[in-house]
Amino acid sequence: MAFGTVDVEVIAALRAALDKGDLLSAQEDMLHYGHDETEDLVHPPEVVVRPRTTEEVVRIVKVCAAHHIPITPIGGRTGLSGGALCVHGGVGLALDRMDRIEHIDEQNLQVTVQPGVITQVLMDAVAAKGLYYAPDPSSKGSCTIGGNLAENAGGPRAVKYGVTRDFVLNLEVVLASGEVIWTGANTLKNATGYDLTRLIVGSEGTLGVITKAVLRLIPMPKASRLMLVPFNSAVQACEAVSAVFRAGITPSALEFMERDAIDFTMRHVEGIAIAVPDDVQAHLLIEVDGLHDDVLMRECETILGVMEAHDCGEVLFAETAAEKDALWKLRRNVPVAVKAHTIYKEEDTVVPRYALPQLLAGVKAIGKAHGFRSICYGHAGDGNLHINIIKEGVSDDYWKNGLPIAIRELFALTVSLGGTISGEHGIGLVQRPYMDIAFDRTQLDLMRGIKQLFDPQGIMNPGKVLPEG
Ligand code: LAC
Ligand code: ZN
Repeated sequence: MAFGTVDVEVIAALRAALDKGDLLSAQEDMLHYGHDETEDLVHPPEVVVRPRTTEEVVRIVKVCAAHHIPITPIGGRTGLSGGALCVHGGVGLALDRMDRIEHIDEQNLQVTVQPGVITQVLMDAVAAKGLYYAPDPSSKGSCTIGGNLAENAGGPRAVKYGVTRDFVLNLEVVLASGEVIWTGANTLKNATGYDLTRLIVGSEGTLGVITKAVLRLIPMPKASRLMLVPFNSAVQACEAVSAVFRAGITPSALEFMERDAIDFTMRHVEGIAIAVPDDVQAHLLIEVDGLHDDVLMRECETILGVMEAHDCGEVLFAETAAEKDALWKLRRNVPVAVKAHTIYKEEDTVVPRYALPQLLAGVKAIGKAHGFRSICYGHAGDGNLHINIIKEGVSDDYWKNGLPIAIRELFALTVSLGGTISGEHGIGLVQRPYMDIAFDRTQLDLMRGIKQLFDPQGIMNPGKVLPEG
């Protein structure tokens, strides 16, 4: 599809649409906004606009609609599927200036925010009032709520509290026509018509621009306990995961890290070294939280029993806040550490929890057959395995032409286990060619129909989510 050109007329119209003329077009700025954390990909916009209000977004969208210019919302640029990359150039709609926390409603436990609020900033603001916003992607210090909504981001605490979508009550969205809607109501229950709120969350900017969100909050847990559990077999570590839930415990995090993930991260980040015996192949990082520490102690004892029954090594309990921070730092820095080491492709497979050992074993077998190395880690309690396929030692030709065949095999395995190809990173640009593994033609045509209805001109984040044809 041919799009319009961002010429002087369009630039002038965009500038006029902005109250403070906040528009960037220098090449270095385009490069800055042209990448996120997805591999080494760069797809710059032709121009970047930085609105502060919904009204400005409306005017920008109307300019783009009139000139048939692609419009790609950009948040904290921490995405791992390329959702914010401007693959067709056009307008990069940077939402970083829309960073107001408008209202913390302590009576109803809700918060109203603009999309550019950094996730950690929101967490801290509500924590100051004894409230908790639980979704906690590893990039929470720099990702934004808008990006989290667009990709339906998760994080370690999703296993107990749910992903971003589970915290959304209502969204203000600017549609491709320039009309503004609210998707639902600010209520905890809503059985009124089709659920547009859930549709917009995870739609990656392809259906409209989220300009405001009303989010649910919960009371802040008062206590937590954290343990690191080593295993001599990575598959055995995964087998212990579902047994924890069957023993009656829902941890607030149940993370898996392969040996390599820990080794890379300890080399990359200072001050988090732990002793790992040579024969240890993987760890589970398990947290429980709640109101009463004595209850948590008993839950830890139950978990310990489950771990020992799965032949774990010596468990490390974090005794102090500093020790807890160090263990979380170790876990949250895995993606950064791997990225610093080599080019890699990050897959985000998810299966029903009990199938996790089969998925891990299958990933390693596929890697062996196809000649690539992978570092696996992730949200084991959710059955969500991040698979980092390492470029090191692999030829450019294989990386480009051979690896996609192996990835198809990997995704086919995931789907055959009852899973799907992305748990929390989204489809964006890089997983788009694999959508046919997760969905048949009838399902994809339904999604295409929805896209067509919302965005008949195809200007909202083109080239994402839905495969060609
Ligand atoms: C994590 C991100 C990569 O789990 O999803 O660290
Ligand atoms: Zn993750």
